[in-house]
Amino acid sequence: MKHPVVVGLQYGDEGKGKITDSLAKQAEWVIRFNGGSNAGHTLWLNGQKLVTHSVPSGVLYSHVKNFIGAGCVIHPLALKKELEELAGAGAKLGSDRLLIDSRAHLTLPIHLALDGAREAGASGIGTTKKGIGPTYTSKTDRSGIRVAQLDAPDLEERIRFLLEVFNPILKAAGQTESTLKENLEVIRVAQQLIGPHVSREATPFYDIAKKSRCVLEGAQGILLDIDHGTYPYVTSSNTIPAFASIGTPFPSSRIGRILGVAKAYLTRVGQGPMPTELHDETGQRIREKGHEFGATTGRPRRTGWLDLDELRLSVRLSDCSGIVLTKSDILSGEAKVAARIDGKLVEFEGWSSVTEGEALHPKMETFVQAIEKHVGIPVVALGTGADRAAMFWRRPIDDFWSDDVST
Ligand code: GDP
Ligand code: IMO
Ligand code: MG
Repeated sequence: MKHPVVVGLQYGDEGKGKITDSLAKQAEWVIRFNGGSNAGHTLWLNGQKLVTHSVPSGVLYSHVKNFIGAGCVIHPLALKKELEELAGAGAKLGSDRLLIDSRAHLTLPIHLALDGAREAGASGIGTTKKGIGPTYTSKTDRSGIRVAQLDAPDLEERIRFLLEVFNPILKAAGQTESTLKENLEVIRVAQQLIGPHVSREATPFYDIAKKSRCVLEGAQGILLDIDHGTYPYVTSSNTIPAFASIGTPFPSSRIGRILGVAKAYLTRVGQGPMPTELHDETGQRIREKGHEFGATTGRPRRTGWLDLDELRLSVRLSDCSGIVLTKSDILSGEAKVAARIDGKLVEFEGWSSVTEGEALHPKMETFVQAIEKHVGIPVVALGTGADRAAMFWRRPIDDFWSDDVST
């Protein structure tokens, strides 16, 4: 059996959470492989809104086990708040339903201070200020603290070393240095909160992947990938689906269909290039109709037309076999919509609704076919609203665990 990976094809917030949730119904495991609390994945259930940040979006199904992989970073205080919110909404995650890889790194107060200090200066890029960049920095320079170290005898010594390496940066920036005490306080929270959920197995999915349906859920979007995105306006992890079997020890031969999620238009939070950005009232209208305000930071998202040149690049970088197009319903009622094709903005007639009877609205179909023609792969489904049921599948959902990934 092979397993699908869900990734965003743009600058994040494409609707990955909703698509992961749709697939989770048929799955036993949902696995996150990158990012941390910078992500905000929105799920809607019976008119109630829930946002997952570090926790995979399989939380709404009580039969689904959720795994946070080694490629993720964990902010203990944010995770605590997230788990409390989910429990309050009826999704209580015991140690049977949430497992955290002991190799994942922790985001501590020093990381938040460093992110804040960088953002306060001229070299800020508009991060989520969740300490993501500094946590991955300390991971790669081998001074970071892993979940596995929470009960290690040399933990305090390791934290002293982390502070020794990074406090000089805060000092040079004229900021208050981070104290051992404040970092240890968060460590105590982490010990209590994360302790019961730790998975120390080296290859947990080696056998599981042979028989149980899994969904691998990415965070952010392909164009925010640290290596292949719009550097330096990127996040600090790899977002391309190849990372799914690095950020978790998921056997790479078991990765099947890669589903790329893309909005029918474009949004971006933070700085960086966005050739189709709309600075006019159309951009403002789309922002309001689409509720385009960050699920994590509440920041207004920049809006623009769909960029098919970039989408083709993302499709190729991710090697995805199908696109799920979300939020076309937000464009319903626009007289004209546009997309960038071969460097030029091309206008399309708008649609009054995404579907008409059992089929796509003819104008919607024309738009979808233009996407397929330019990027070279099929649009396998469309979102028709925020609710989990608001989907129009052009390929049967049961196909997603097949070994044949050609469509
Ligand atoms: P993610 O980070 O990729 O999971 O996406 P976010 O949750 O940050 O942002 C996507 C937003 O669009 C959320 O508010 C979703 O509820 C909403 N959404 C997802 N798909 C659709 C869709 O097809 N139509 C509409 N109207 N809203 C959608
Ligand atoms: P989801 O998973 C949208 C953006 C930030 C900033 C850049 C770097 O919900 O799609 P970081 O805090 O990661 O160092 O910020 O990346 N960014 C996101 N934008 N959705 C996200 O996640 C994002 N995660 C990070 O706005 O431009
Ligand atoms: Mg989001």
